[in-house]
Parts: sequence; structure tokens; C-alpha cells
Amino acid sequence: MAFDIDMIKSVYARMAERVDKARELTGKPLTLSEKILYSHLWDGIPTKEFKRGKDYVDFAPDRVACQDATAQMALLQFMHAGKPKVAVPTTVHCDHLIQAKVGAEADLKRANQTSNEVFDFLESVSNKYGIGFWKPGAGIIHQVVLENYAFPGGMMIGTDSHTVNAGGLGMVAIGVGGADAVDVMAGMAWELKFPKLIGVKLTGKLSGWTAPKDVILKVADILTVKGGTGAIIEYFGEGATSMSCTGKGTICNMGAEVGATTSTFGYDESMDRYLRGTDRADVADEAKKVAAYLTADPEVYREPEKYFDQVIEIDLSTLEPHLNGPFTPDLATPISKMGEAAKKNDWPLNVEVGLIGSCTNSSYEDISRAASLAKQVSDKKLKTKSKFTITPGSEMVRYTIERDGFIKTFNDIGATVFANACGPCIGMWDRYGDKAANGPRNTIVHSFNRNFAKRADGNPNTLAFVGSPELVTAIAISGRLDFNPITDTLINEEGQEVKLDEPRGYELPPEGFAVEDAGYIAPKEDGSSVEVKVASDSERLQLLAPFTPITNESLKGMKLLIKAFGKCTTDHISMAGPWLRYRGHLDNISNNTLIGAVNAFNKKTNFVKNQLTGEYGGVPDTQRAYKAKGIKTIVVGDHNYGEGSSREHAAMQPRHLGVAAVLVKSFARIHETNLKKQGMLALTFANENDYDKIQEDDTFNFVDIDKFAPDVPLTIEVVHADGSKDLIKVNHSYNAQQIAWFREGSALNMIKKENAA
Ligand code: F3S
Repeated sequence: MAFDIDMIKSVYARMAERVDKARELTGKPLTLSEKILYSHLWDGIPTKEFKRGKDYVDFAPDRVACQDATAQMALLQFMHAGKPKVAVPTTVHCDHLIQAKVGAEADLKRANQTSNEVFDFLESVSNKYGIGFWKPGAGIIHQVVLENYAFPGGMMIGTDSHTVNAGGLGMVAIGVGGADAVDVMAGMAWELKFPKLIGVKLTGKLSGWTAPKDVILKVADILTVKGGTGAIIEYFGEGATSMSCTGKGTICNMGAEVGATTSTFGYDESMDRYLRGTDRADVADEAKKVAAYLTADPEVYREPEKYFDQVIEIDLSTLEPHLNGPFTPDLATPISKMGEAAKKNDWPLNVEVGLIGSCTNSSYEDISRAASLAKQVSDKKLKTKSKFTITPGSEMVRYTIERDGFIKTFNDIGATVFANACGPCIGMWDRYGDKAANGPRNTIVHSFNRNFAKRADGNPNTLAFVGSPELVTAIAISGRLDFNPITDTLINEEGQEVKLDEPRGYELPPEGFAVEDAGYIAPKEDGSSVEVKVASDSERLQLLAPFTPITNESLKGMKLLIKAFGKCTTDHISMAGPWLRYRGHLDNISNNTLIGAVNAFNKKTNFVKNQLTGEYGGVPDTQRAYKAKGIKTIVVGDHNYGEGSSREHAAMQPRHLGVAAVLVKSFARIHETNLKKQGMLALTFANENDYDKIQEDDTFNFVDIDKFAPDVPLTIEVVHADGSKDLIKVNHSYNAQQIAWFREGSALNMIKKENAA
């Protein structure tokens, strides 16, 4: 669907030279991950070896993908870059804002009513700036990307953590925040710490009840939710090549659950088949020509310990189906041990709902295997005990499985088919109405990826277990969490003991994929006349005004907004939950600014002193009072300030409200960069103990901001209420370009200026 074969050809054309040079520089055989990274350097041909886990490197991704929730602020910002078109192929996918309640048709209709202004906005911006638009109901971003855009050896970024799904087709695909996407869309480099590498050798072959999902559930068991942090996981071995491409996608998808930067697989026949099966024979032909560059050098897989930072081996022939959960995706229980584990932990055995699909597991193979079990319900005169739902990943899959009779098979067991969207996977599942917060203790099983408390239905008392679609289906039929379909039998409606046959399916549809309306809307060739639609009284969307530069003068007489105590993550700075609704409206979402941060002076949240009145109030209101008087403020914080997500709102909101500087003991790096991009001062105490000198009534004067330069600390005069003063030194990590962002008001202002020049 409008994928760019010329772009893919140019990636392949430069690969040999760059990879060969990287091999020469590093003096060793290369892994696939290194080949892709070194062939996507912003500066072109490699000139030095990068240290894994240490060096920050500028990359030039081939594509960008955005989902509807995160795209709003990203595109609002992009509109300020002054570009007529995005610099790299980009797509927007409407999938997160569709609530699952009744069934696909009604739910989609309701979403189109409740979120139509967001969809209209995204469509019009896409049309204007050359961005491919996938309308509501077209499918989930990662499934649509796999079907249409992913290609072996490519690099992409996406504004969603499961962008990593495209590793199933041999990409390095990484989830990022909106600010990073804006950089790449605007034609700037994208920075990443050169990742460490974890090799996973898959021996043996999957069979029977075991599915690709069980591989990643096992990996999660081994690595835990943090074990992949800062690393790319590269899978290889006979077990990898014998698996379908979409199965590989499932494994890569859930790499996000072990914290991995991304995961990937070397190019093989399964990828060739999938590319041809999804109408991309030309990509398959091109990939074949450079096949040696799309997988690791042979020595790497022969002696992986020498070339990876960590190696894990899993024998697929002996791997058992697993269920992971509840409340964390790394708590793995082989199905044969579930009875014991459930008893020990007092997990309710009765399964209320089985849910299959999502971006993780809704391939034709997944659905056909699950359908082969659903079919046995009538064949063996059984009755499905749990409720059962399906969320197809794309309209192409949905249309094809309907044509091939699988939807009917599911309907026959009483299933509900939800819209091709995230639905229950992102908590957009109206299971309890407004009673979710006090919902009953209960068990569900699903084939999604995340199972944190409240994730699916908002009920903190729902225990969610993650498994393969086939195991979820079998468990839903039995209605029991401890049902092991390999050994256990069921009693049918005639009182007979029956056993489910092993699931069977098709890697790809025997009659090929089909679709009537895939849901894609191509942008205009020349979008200059397209008007972007935002109602002036909208609650959810607001066009951005460029930030005005923070002047040296305004950095005198500043007030303290809050001295945050202890942990202050991006969630404390810009809460999620109900506030997600305002992601596209900077002023409205700013009403949550720092409301989760603990005030060091009274240990309360959202309760700070307004120095102008002496009264205490909420952080956003207090800050707005300073803003009204034209007084800039400073936020003081502890260690690792801004850890958590890459959410750019955590920097944009304080900036919008008039905070000029954030001074902390240390920063989470992405947040520090986001503050710089928004034209603010991100500073650290030269002497950490100076944190203790900051008092509630302090006034701050930047005494040498006119000499702001790389590697030169700044000095702040802190004036206390009693008139005494402290001069404190603060460090910064701004380079010359970042200082220019500060002087211009933001990185985007700078880009705009350069474009205009
Ligand atoms: Fe959507 Fe869940 Fe995937 S939220 S993008 S289906 S992880």
C-alpha cells in the first residue's frame, strides 16, 4: 500500500559498502543488528567502531509510523517545522481510540462519533504533509506495518512501544516518543545509544500445542521485564528459520515486555513467503539479491558467545505452552504446572473471558489455528464455557478470515468480534461501565502482550494471563485456567469424555489474502492547499503557537514552583489515565502538570506555596498565577528526574505554563533532551548538597546566562526570604546546537528558521 520500493532499493544499494566498512573497522564478523545499525548512520559510511551500551549515535531511519493517541502532539509540533512534506515515508494509524463494547460495527460507529474531530485532524494533517493515513477500522498499527511497510534490513521508528513487531520481517524497528518522530519527519538525525546485543539461539522445531508466543513467554521468564533493557535481541538457529514470519513478529512484539530496544530475525524463506503473500514480490526480489547482508555473518551464529553480550538457548522441541501472569508478563508458568501454581497463589480457576487477537497475535496463522479448535466445539458436542472475543489486527486479515469461514466458526461458539483496533489491549474495553474500579476478582486469559493491573478492563481485581491464541481458545472452551489440552479431557454435552485435537492452521491463506477496502487513504501529491481541521472551541485539540525564546532578562527574579522530593517520573510530571484524552490539547493537558510530584517542604502532592500570595494551591494553578504576572519559574528535583517514558508532554507542559528551568541532581536522559528541544534550561547541581539549600520562598537570578556556552557551568544566585544569598554552580550538557535551540525558543523554531533561510 504505497510502500516505497525506490527507498528500499536505495537502502539495499548502500548496504554492502557500509557493512563492509563496519566489518573492517570493528575487525570482526557482524551480527544482523550491527549490519542494520551501521548501514543507517546519519553520517553515511562508518568511520569508527561504536561501543555498545556507551556511544550515542545519530541514525537515519527509513520510515516513521504513528498511532492516533501519540500522533496528535507529534503532528501538531511537526506543523511548526515549516516543511511542506515529511522528510521520510510516514504513516498514521487510527487504532487506539476505538472502544470495544458491543461488536465491530457498532463500536466503530461510536468511535467515529466520539473521536471524529481527532480523526479528522489526523487525516487532514496527513493529507497536507504527505503522510499515509489509515482510517479507524483499518487495523492496528503494527499489523498494518508488517503487512505493508516492514522490509528486511530496514530501520524504522514508531510512536508506540510495540513498533518492535516489525522485527519479524527482519527490521530494526524501535518505539520512540513523539519528539523523536518529529525530528525524523522534519529531516533531522535520530539519536540512540548504540545497543548491546543479546543472541537467542532457537534449536529444534515448534509442534503440537506450542506456538511462537511460548518462545517469548519463555524469554520473558529468563530475562524478566528488565533483562533486555538497552539491548537488541537477535534470534537465530534452525528454530528461527522453521517459524513463520508472523510468528517471528509475535516474538519481536513482546520483546517490549522484557525492556529490549528491539528484537529482530535474519532474512529467510518465511520472510520471502510473507512478502510475496502480502503482494510485495518486488521487495522479496530485491531482498534476495542482498540476502547475505540481511542476516549475520556465518561465524556469528557458529560461535555466538564471541559476538553477543549475552546468549540464551531455547529448544523448541521441548518447549511447553506457557501462561504468563497475572499482573506481570514475566511470571511464566508452563501449562502443566498451572493447577499447582493457581492453588498455591489462590488464583481464581474459573476463566471468565478468553480474548484473542491484538497487534501481537492476529495473523492468519494465529486465527486459523484458533479456529481449528473452535470448530471442534460443535464437532465434539462441547459448549464453550468462557466468553470469547476476537480483535483482528487488520481489515485484510479480518476480510480474509471471514471469507475463509473462520469468523462464522467463532460466531458459532458465541464469540464477539471487536473492531480491528487495540480495544481491550489498551483498556478500551467497556466491560464494567463505570464500575470498573471496584470490579470483582476474576480471571481472564488473552493473547495480548501486557497484563498489568487494570490494563484490559480498568478493574484492579482482574487477573490477566497471557498465552498463545490457541491455548487461550482451548482454555476458553474449557473455562478453566488449569486446563492442559495436551493431557486433559473435557466432558461433552452427551456426557462423553473428549479430548481436543492439536491446533492446525495455515501460515498464509491458501487462496491468498483479500480485502475490499483496506482503509488506506493516500495523501495528496501537493497538499499545500489542504486546510488542517481544528475547531477553535475543541477540548481535545489545540493548534500550537511557537514558543517564544526565554530571555536572559526573564531569568532574573524567578520563583520556585516546586522542589520535588524523591522519584519524579514523566507520569508524575504529566499523568496518563483520563488525561490521555487531552494529549492533543496542550493547554488542557497542562492542568495535570507536576500534580503527581511530591513537594519536598510538606511531602504532599499538588500542594505548593504561591510566593505572591503566601497561599497554598495546586501546581498548575500556582504556575498559571506566576505566568499571569510574567514571572518565570524553576522546578527543582532529585535524582533521575523525568525517568519513565519519552512523553514530550512532560517537557512541553511546564514550558507552556512558563517554567524556564529545571534544576535537578540528575536527569533521565530522554527527558533532559526533551527539555532542551522545547527551549528550556535543563541543569544539574554541580554540588548535589546544594539541593538542600533551596527553600520554599527562594528567588533565583541567573547571573551569567549571557555567557551560556558548551562545557561552561552556569551560576545561580539564590535569594532566601531573610535576604541571605547562596551562589550555586550548575552544570549542563548543552552543545552549541542545543544552545541555539534555547536561544530560538525551541528546536522546531530553529528548524523553521533554517528552512526559511
Ligand atoms: Fe494496540 Fe495493544 Fe498493540 S494497545 S498497538 S494492540 S500492544
